[in-house]
Order: sequence, then structure tokens, then C-alpha cells
Amino acid sequence: MINFSHLAEKYQTPLYVYDFDAIAQQYETLKEAFRARKAIMAFAIKSNSNLSVVQHLAKLGAGADCVSIGEVRRALLAGVPKYKIIFSGVGKQDHEIKEALESDILFINLESEAEFERVEMIAKELGLQARISIRVNPNIDPKTHPYISTGLHGNKFGVEINAAKRMYLKAKKSEHLDPVGIHFHIGSQLTELEPIREATEIVADLVRTLQAVDINLKFFDVGGGLGVTYENEVTIDPKEYAQAILATMRGLDMTIICEPGRFITANAGYFLTRVMYEKQNDEKRFVIVDGAMNDLIRPSLYSAYHKIEAVDNESEKSPADIVGPVCESGDFFAKERLMPRLKHNDLIVVYSAGAYGFGMGSNYNTRGRAAEVALEEGKDRVIRRRESFDDLVALEKEFLL
Ligand code: LLP
Repeated sequence: MINFSHLAEKYQTPLYVYDFDAIAQQYETLKEAFRARKAIMAFAIKSNSNLSVVQHLAKLGAGADCVSIGEVRRALLAGVPKYKIIFSGVGKQDHEIKEALESDILFINLESEAEFERVEMIAKELGLQARISIRVNPNIDPKTHPYISTGLHGNKFGVEINAAKRMYLKAKKSEHLDPVGIHFHIGSQLTELEPIREATEIVADLVRTLQAVDINLKFFDVGGGLGVTYENEVTIDPKEYAQAILATMRGLDMTIICEPGRFITANAGYFLTRVMYEKQNDEKRFVIVDGAMNDLIRPSLYSAYHKIEAVDNESEKSPADIVGPVCESGDFFAKERLMPRLKHNDLIVVYSAGAYGFGMGSNYNTRGRAAEVALEEGKDRVIRRRESFDDLVALEKEFLL
């Protein structure tokens, strides 16, 4: 049991807490599921990019899936070996491509024919050969929230199969490109195995077609997306997930890359916030807390459910909206949630906050971002200090007239 009261007392609120032992356990579970093959678990840095979290995973052997050169730098800074870093994203800037090539990471994932040309040109300018992979859009409906589904032709991600074929053929002929991998990612918070199996089959077939023309790829990147339980979702068993992928890849001698984000950190993270006031407007009950949408935007943005509990409070429950102090009606953590009677300073825990929590935070309403704390083997330590007002104005102050 985590002593939330102690942590809130010691570090103040709002506060993010990450259980590093739970993170390690999730990592090992997935790694173990792919034991039968050479595999790299490339942690999706975007899901939780705190340097200490990334370092913790790097020490366990994880790689990194990055979507900006900033994330690549974070991964390197945290000790992820360059040969386990991959760089994806639909819009990489020239300077990002250049730096990624100079950093000699495992490969760059190409997401369009236009980007293909740019990477080839930049590699030529640098006088090197760029290791590349192509993100294929298999046109599969992952059956998740539309904002986080990515593998349909209506989404901006990847290229369709025929374009991918053309690109591989061109890459093979290019002096400056070395096609080493293939990639797909159909969406996030996936709870059904079938779409993943279908996508894997489509991509594995493409790999076989390419082999027939002597294009032999080494890395089969299955993306991320494994769902977790926020409320009562039945999730995919990691072993079944790995088995489904391995079965479709029969006969292909390739290293698997997996890009888990949420699966590793979501349920290892907690967001602590204190009650400021209770307020009743007619029939409507509001609990106003010191955390807000700038700290954790998932409920506002996706109507996402997060389990919420009041610490050490057994009083009778009634429905309430749990809201933050930001000047937006969309600033809420939950609506009509059964909550006990609360008073000033009572502590509230928002669960499953370890993925896409802090990282999607902002300084809206000039609110400093929360501190982040790690819990490891019974000990707690700060891994990011709370932002101060000075931090918030640091980049503007010098321009005052
Ligand atoms: N690989 C690629 C290419 C991705 O686009 C993503 C997530 C991942 C891996 C990691 O997916 P995961 O294993 O974490 O599901 N902000 C949203 C989620 C956005 C996901 C974007 N891509 C949320 O809070 O639900």
C-alpha cells in the first residue's frame, strides 16, 4: 500500500507519483512474453518522458520510441543506447532528421514519400547512408477512441501498402538509404486482439513480398497500443498478444520491436490532489481540487475515465463533479462521480495517471506544473521539482520594455 498522505505531506500537491517497481514489473512481463524471439521493447517516450523514468527503463534494457528530436535527446541523456532508439512521426523537420542521422540511432521511420525524398537528400548531404523503416498504414479499425486510432486510411499516419512497396524498391536502389525495418501502429488503448492480428498479417505478407525481390528487412516493428484497465476494460493478455504476433511471423527471421507506452506506466502512476472546497449549485455538487486540466487533461480531452478515491474517508457517498480551478467548464477530472463528503485539505488520488498525464500538461492559467516523485523499493525521491513562478516567466521576463 502506498502511503499517499505521507507523500502529499512531504512533497505538497498537486503531485505525480510513479511506482518504479510496478513499471519494472510491466516491462518484464512484456519482455518475457516475447522471450522466444530477439526483441527490443522500445518504450514510447511520449507516454511518460521524465528522464528518471526513461533511465529506469533503460537500466532494465529498454529501447526508446521517439517522435521528436527532443525525445531522442531525452532517451540518449537517460542512457538508452543509440542502437535501441527509433524516430517516428509524420512531420520531422530537417534539423531533426540531420541530428537523428548524426546520432546514428537504429532507424528513422518514414511516414510519406515526400519525407523519403528529404531523408535521402539530407543523408546525401551528410555523406552517409540512413537506416530507414517505413510506417505502413494497414487500414485496420482498431476499435478504440477516434482520437487515438491511427491505422486507418483516414488517419494521417503511415503510407498505404502500394506506396510502401514503391518506397522500398526505391530505397534499395538508393546509395543513401538502407531499408532495415517495417513499422505499423494501429492505435492506442487497444483492447481487442483481432485488429492487431489482422494488421500483423498484412504487414508480414508485405515483408514476404519484399523478400521475393531481395529486400530483406531485419526489424519488424509492431508499434505500441496495448490497452490497460482504467475502469473495467478487459485487456489483452501480453502472452496472447506476443503469441498472435509471433504466429503470423512464422518463417520470418526478424527482430521484433514493440513500442509500449501506456502498458508500462499508466497504472504505475498516481496523481495526488487536495480538496479546496465543496460547493453546491442548486442540485449540483462540485468538489474543487487544487489539480486541474493543465496537470491531467485526459478527462477533458477524451472524456477519459480515471478511478478517483478520497484517502481515508468512509463517509456516505453522493454524486459530484470533481473540478479544478482553471477557467474552463471543460476543467474536470470526473462528472457525477460518487464521492464521500469532503472538506478543505482532504486528499484525493486519481489513478492510472502514469501515461499521458504529466507529459500532456501545460502552464495554462499560469499554473506551474506539478512535481514528480518516484517510489522505488520502499523509498521515495523527487524526479522533477515543482515549477515556480520564476520558471514560468523565465523566457519572457528579459523582453519586458
Ligand atoms: N508507437 C506509436 C507510433 C504511437 O503513435 C504511440 C502512441 C505509441 C507507440 C504508444 O502507444 P501506447 O502503447 O502508449 O498506447 N494521449 C493519448 C494517447 C496518444 C497515443 C499516441 N501514440 C491518451 O492519453 O490516451
